[in-house]
Amino acid sequence: MKVLGVETSCDETGIAIYDSERGLLADQLYSQVGMHAEYGGVVPELASRDHIRRTLPMIAGVLDDAGLERGDIDGIAFTAGPGLVGALLVGASVARSLALAWGVPAIGVHHMEGHLLAPMLGDNPPTYPFIALLVSGGHTLLVNAHAHARYEILGESRDDAAGEAFDKAAKMLGLGYPGGPAIARLAEQGSAGRFRFPRPMVNRPGLDFSFSGLKTYTLNCVQDLGELNKQDRADVALAFQDAVVDTLSIKCRRALRETGSSQLVVAGGVSANISLRTRLQDMVAKERAQLFVPALSLCTDNGAMIAYAGWQRLAAGEQSGLELTVRPRWPIDELSPPPTV
Ligand code: KG4
Ligand code: ZN
Repeated sequence: MKVLGVETSCDETGIAIYDSERGLLADQLYSQVGMHAEYGGVVPELASRDHIRRTLPMIAGVLDDAGLERGDIDGIAFTAGPGLVGALLVGASVARSLALAWGVPAIGVHHMEGHLLAPMLGDNPPTYPFIALLVSGGHTLLVNAHAHARYEILGESRDDAAGEAFDKAAKMLGLGYPGGPAIARLAEQGSAGRFRFPRPMVNRPGLDFSFSGLKTYTLNCVQDLGELNKQDRADVALAFQDAVVDTLSIKCRRALRETGSSQLVVAGGVSANISLRTRLQDMVAKERAQLFVPALSLCTDNGAMIAYAGWQRLAAGEQSGLELTVRPRWPIDELSPPPTV
């Protein structure tokens, strides 16, 4: 079965074709970061307008890359939420209309389920049940994935998402948008040990996160330093990144121990962070567990994960109706498995 995936939930247009027999056949990504950079963050209306411009040419592009005709496509998956409502509606309208015109089923996919399933596209996928740390610009979730589409939220952020905290800290340091990669690059030049930032909520029981205190601490530190030179900025970036990475790792270790699981998946934009990957790798080795991380290109938003997550549901006989329903807010534990699972 060949499924076209359409991702337009935020500031990336991701289009891909997944074939259940041959794997990923084509994967195109257009990032709008250049356009939003001058505003210091995503401007929703500009994002929607740009998705309108990109989706159809990119769909033609992936068909071309894969050497396929539109008649070869067996189903279309689109991101139905969570995300920016206008941006979601563009992908949903295009995907739903094409599915109608081509006479194939369409399926609305949960963006975070896409992230969670992304490691399944790799060579050595995890098996259910497993624990997943989902860290993106909008979400920080610890999930117990009992089976396909049976997700139990173990913990989540009470305020800012991890990616959002990176983006805000980057702004304080005068770095561009998106902040995560910029902080990570700058942190490479930081000297360890100059600052030690607090690890929020690690001394309290439970698996929830909170990053707003760390954000305030970072702001105070930057203000106390006054005029920042390059080294100051690198040292702050490193201390900030260390605090986030440490906090995430401590909570993942706790989740593994509390559930008795030996498999940890990390996915979402922040999982592209090398320091986080290394720290989690060290932690799981000590816990005699295994870490599953998607390839870098599958960590941040992409169409491949949507095509794959959609295929799982289409193959089980699920499909979305003709109405255009998107859900800007959509808790992952409200998902239900396809009818035949
Ligand atoms: O999953 P994603 O691409 O989009 C959303 O669904 O939100 O995640 C984007 C987030 C941004 O906040 C970005 O700063 C962060 O992921 N990010 C990173 C890195 N690359 C992207 N954060 C830390 N280190 C990185 N290397
Ligand atoms: Zn995402």
